Amino acid sequence: MIKYYKWFDQTFMKKRFKVLLTRRLHNTVLEKLEKKCDIRLHSGKIPMPKRTLMSQIKNVDGLICHPYDTVDKDVISNGKNLKAISTFSVGFDHIDVKFARKQGIKIGFTPEVLTNATAELTIGLILDLLRRISEGDRIIRNKKWNQIYGAHDYTGVEISKKTIGIMGMGRIGREVAKKANGLGMNVIYHSRKHISKSVESRLKVKYVSENVLYQKSDIVTLHVPYTKDTHHLMNSKILKKMKKTSFLINTSRGKIVNEKDLAIALKKKQIRGAGLDVYELEPLKKNSPLLSLENVVLAPHIGSSTEETRSKMSDITAENLLRALEGKKLLYAV
Ligand code: DGY
Repeated sequence: MIKYYKWFDQTFMKKRFKVLLTRRLHNTVLEKLEKKCDIRLHSGKIPMPKRTLMSQIKNVDGLICHPYDTVDKDVISNGKNLKAISTFSVGFDHIDVKFARKQGIKIGFTPEVLTNATAELTIGLILDLLRRISEGDRIIRNKKWNQIYGAHDYTGVEISKKTIGIMGMGRIGREVAKKANGLGMNVIYHSRKHISKSVESRLKVKYVSENVLYQKSDIVTLHVPYTKDTHHLMNSKILKKMKKTSFLINTSRGKIVNEKDLAIALKKKQIRGAGLDVYELEPLKKNSPLLSLENVVLAPHIGSSTEETRSKMSDITAENLLRALEGKKLLYAV
């Protein structure tokens, strides 16, 4: 009898799922979703304003969201039919996971596929910052090239032989270590857990205390998730521990850095520069003090943004959602 109902359900009723997307995914993926779902696609302001999200989530079975969206208790509570949340990201700090789980809502995410892209961007920011590429681009566009002809008018610093301090040795931290090795850098790291000796020796990395990492590194790069413990991990006190000649790179989450403190440190030349892909508020506010500083390279949260990676992320995001709605095992579940 039970079997019969299940069969009946799947074969004749063919329930179509109602799904809300806060941003567009690749067309091929939308077509795949459309075969089984009625899609509501937000096309207005990014991020989708919380109030809009709260009203649009009513009656949907599934939500596809992005790191910019705040999927908190208020939002989740409004999704009376919500059974699945699939985020187009490896980070899920924008979702109240504990509350969602309590409601029996399944959550999918997209780890692994973006490891290389994010590590590449990290290296890109380091190269840009140390060799002053974006700054030079501004000089040319502002017709000031003729002011930098002296032998030492416009020098950067070399990456080779510098010490890079990696905070967090998860997938992305490890990939950054590999790439940094290839560039001839010395790699030290700090992480909640020591990685095994064999992985340390394969990656040619040395574990150090948090303090030593800040004091010894020429470049500090952040690869920890955002949690209440990492909130404003980089603040004025820590920035003061870093060398005056050092650089900070953040491709993880904006709120790990106290942006106000960072802007002051950069202005006072307490550290030499920063390369950022993530911000406390995204998009970055138009009056952010970071915008007027020359010793900062700013990227618009593009860690995963390559053709190769984004298309894999779209596929996984949709597949996670469909699997969750159909009661199957997710490809990647939080
Ligand atoms: C993520 O997936 O969490 C990244 O920040 C997106 O670029």
